[in-house]
Amino acid sequence: MCGIVGYTGRLEAAPLLLDGLRRLEYRGYDSAGVAVLDAGRIEMVKASGSVANLAEKTANGAALTGKCGIAHTRWATHGAPTDTNAHPHLSEHGLFAVVHNGIIENFAALKGELEAEGIVFRSETDTEVVAHLLEKYYDGDLKSAVMRTAARLEGSYVLGVLCAKEPGRLFCVKEAGPLILGVGVGENYFASDVTALVSRTKNVIYMSDGELAELTPEKITVYDRTGRETAKEVSHVVWDVEAAEKGGYEHFMMKEIMEQPRAVKNTVEPRIRGGEIVFEDFGLTAEEIRRFSRVVITACGSAYHAGVVAKYVIESLCRVSVETALASELRYSDPIIDGRTLLIVVSQSGETADTIAAMRECMARGARSLAIVNVVGSTIARLADNVIYTHAGPEIAVATTKGYTTQLAALYLFAVWYADKLGAIDAARRAELIAALYALPSMVQRAIDLNVHVKYLAERWHGHKSLFFIGRNIDYAAAMEGSLKLKEISYIHSEAYAAGELKHGTIALIDEKRLVVALCCQEQLYDKMVSNIQEVKARGAKVLGVALEGNRRIFAEADDVLYVPRGERLFAALPEIVPLQLFAYYIARENGCSIDKPRNLAKSVTVE
Ligand code: G6P
Repeated sequence: MCGIVGYTGRLEAAPLLLDGLRRLEYRGYDSAGVAVLDAGRIEMVKASGSVANLAEKTANGAALTGKCGIAHTRWATHGAPTDTNAHPHLSEHGLFAVVHNGIIENFAALKGELEAEGIVFRSETDTEVVAHLLEKYYDGDLKSAVMRTAARLEGSYVLGVLCAKEPGRLFCVKEAGPLILGVGVGENYFASDVTALVSRTKNVIYMSDGELAELTPEKITVYDRTGRETAKEVSHVVWDVEAAEKGGYEHFMMKEIMEQPRAVKNTVEPRIRGGEIVFEDFGLTAEEIRRFSRVVITACGSAYHAGVVAKYVIESLCRVSVETALASELRYSDPIIDGRTLLIVVSQSGETADTIAAMRECMARGARSLAIVNVVGSTIARLADNVIYTHAGPEIAVATTKGYTTQLAALYLFAVWYADKLGAIDAARRAELIAALYALPSMVQRAIDLNVHVKYLAERWHGHKSLFFIGRNIDYAAAMEGSLKLKEISYIHSEAYAAGELKHGTIALIDEKRLVVALCCQEQLYDKMVSNIQEVKARGAKVLGVALEGNRRIFAEADDVLYVPRGERLFAALPEIVPLQLFAYYIARENGCSIDKPRNLAKSVTVE
């Protein structure tokens, strides 16, 4: 989704802003633009397509002079991704330039009002109203103009504001959507993501909804919704800039697949002490957790798939009823939630708009919330009653890999902790499960070690135009994620089906042109899977079996086999997804697709 960056300091702004935009590219966008202030004049350049186009138009920023500026990558919502619709947007007399992340829901009414006053709009965007409102309300007091403008806006918006009459001064505002301030020496920044800042500063301030910030090279001042100055804590980002760079890999996605053993280890090991699971700073006591009558898990995309896995695991270990709901559905479903509901919110970014809305809805109905989040200080992390951070480090590829596997690891940890607190497992089973948690990083590594074989299979099967992923129980949940990975990055049609459900309609689509990936790692259901494999083979489909190491019987059923390391049955989805991530990666590579930034997708979907 859209990314914004702002800079004020002693250096030329445009090259720094372009560098920031490049680091935000992974979020997904279709055009970009930059505006800088020089000698009372705003200079602006915009380009559809990649940041490289913008860099070319501006000679890497050298064509623009000025030490204060704003920049943007746009993911089109209102109006096509053209140069004109790209941000920044200028006010009528060029006094203001604005960048915006989000959607102004009442823009049509505001536009009507401004047009009636004689203002001529240049773009089709919702954002342009903001620039005109700023100019309308500006009477020499920039802060007041920003506040009066923000008060007129409905919807979600993070704004960056540059004013031709205010050299060295920037304003930014947050109302839903991420905004982070970078605290430098003699220079200050804002951005929608820390990855844009870490090459310049690791000292950051996380902004909250309703706040606005004023930046000069020497000072940052944050105000609340009423305009009162508010004290903010400066946090230190713990990871290095290398973590957000490719480090010799062809794609971020491959780098992140390879980082999974370390990421899972970082998520699991610090939470196991003396044979017990310990969540530091965790507000939920054993007494409280026993009072919950049910668990609702909500999320979007891959995080939702992690939630589907967790339903099987928590129900099996804790014997508590779990519902996993898509956030975009839950938010409008008039959900039956009360104080006895534990709401688990899963999100890599912590900024997904639908997930935030579902969370607010459920919390307003009394649910206690537990967030499983990767990005420290993100909106979901701050809204939640309790947080378990996944320690995946920055994830840049749009298609999540280590984000998803660390979510699984955190959910497994929680499930074992919860079962233990409920007395649903005895000491021997607890010890067994904790040993299985410890084993996860090495199992992921062993799955990665089969890389060369997965590559060979992808080369063999990449020509198929339509795939089905089938499985039962936890394998079905893993099939959903395996199928999503493939379609996200290779654009090949793929569907995940509960293996037993296939015959109720979908089998009509099975013929000799289909490849069926049959996940068979839940061995208690192995014979049932064999029946389903035979059903599709009888109709001419080719079958790629995914089975546990040591399973020789599968050769009699499948055309090819991908092996998964054998471990605790309930945790099988984690090692099992690794060959499917690699399979999707190599197929997309064979087909020449844009792996890290697939078409139309965004890393963090901050609009509804
Ligand atoms: C987007 C991404 C997906 C991700 C989903 C939820 O659609 O492309 O990869 O799973 O958002 O993101 P979250 O940050 O909430 O986990």
